Amino acid sequence: MGEVVLEVVEMTKHFPVRRRGREALTRLRRAVRAVDGVSFTLRRGRVTAMVGESGSGKSTVAKVVAQLDPPTGGEIRLHGQSVRVRGGRAFRAYCRRVQMIFQDPFASLNPVHTVRYHLTRALRVHGRPAADLPELLAQVQLSPPERYLDKFPHELSGGQRQRVAIARALGAGPEVLLADEPVSMLDVSIRLGVLNLLRDLKEQLDLAILYITHDIASARYFADDTLVMYAGRVVEGGDSETVTQAPAHPYTQLLIDSAPDPERRISPDTVGGEPPSLIDPPAGCRFHPRCPKAMARCGEQAPPRLEVGDRPGHWAACWLYEEAAS
Ligand SMILES: Nc1ncnc2c1ncn2[C@@H]1O[C@H](COP(=O)(O)OP(=O)(O)OP(=O)(O)O)[C@@H](O)[C@H]1O
Ligand SMILES: [Mg+2]
Repeated sequence: MGEVVLEVVEMTKHFPVRRRGREALTRLRRAVRAVDGVSFTLRRGRVTAMVGESGSGKSTVAKVVAQLDPPTGGEIRLHGQSVRVRGGRAFRAYCRRVQMIFQDPFASLNPVHTVRYHLTRALRVHGRPAADLPELLAQVQLSPPERYLDKFPHELSGGQRQRVAIARALGAGPEVLLADEPVSMLDVSIRLGVLNLLRDLKEQLDLAILYITHDIASARYFADDTLVMYAGRVVEGGDSETVTQAPAHPYTQLLIDSAPDPERRISPDTVGGEPPSLIDPPAGCRFHPRCPKAMARCGEQAPPRLEVGDRPGHWAACWLYEEAAS
């Protein structure tokens, strides 16, 4: 299965909402509950996809795991060790091991600097010699290196830019890559090449990868395991083949039914109804107001993770599976 590298335990992230008008006079504190009790593990040599609609909290999870934003609650463990304190040596070691790749490589690279500058700097920050540069470019299949080293971001194609961003992340010698929609800004024709590159790197370097996407079809193609997010919570998890071919949670079923075309992205109108407010989310299961199979208790009690069917590791946070589990 691959050793567990990173564990996220009951992570919450709430964003306070500024009070306005009469509300400012009250003691009421409101917050966007963007992530609420999310737990998962990332394993060496495996890609874990996190799939969900816009606003379900995927990027917030990635930013908190990358330590770009502090969590409201919960714990992150790297090799079993809790990561809490910001700053200091343990924190720097964590940041070196856990690297993030963003959706828009144009925004994440500095337009006034060359590829050489970006990569040399990344290597230096992590104590590696500039002599590693050609190897780094070769790893992301940009060769010969001389052709790319002195180029500026605008002189590269979108796919090449994303490869440079990946090389920069690899410069740190990471164990974990957090890839937040790494191909969704790229032309459809080159998406597969970048995903295949990430898959090769996973195998060569034994990386644990979190792959965030709207596109459940790409999760099936690219990821070993799949997690489904809905309104700040993970509602289903298991190996990608099982989750996409035999989805258990009614939300996952709706996602798959509404995405017959692999190129189409999930938008709020492809699944019936609207995602709920995260300031005042529905009680119980957050999906119950939209769920075709909702029962009375779904609006009262949040379902725990319940085992589904006969595939080990397949679970859904859904009361439908309570019988099966007991
Ligand atoms: N800094 C912030 N302040 C307040 N609310 C925020 C902040 N960042 C995110 N949110 C809210 O948290 C929720 C989750 O946002 P997030 O960006 O994590 O979703 P996402 O799943 O990545 O969506 P997308 O697919 O559109 O990228 C949204 O309701 C968003 O408005
Ligand atoms: Mg996002």
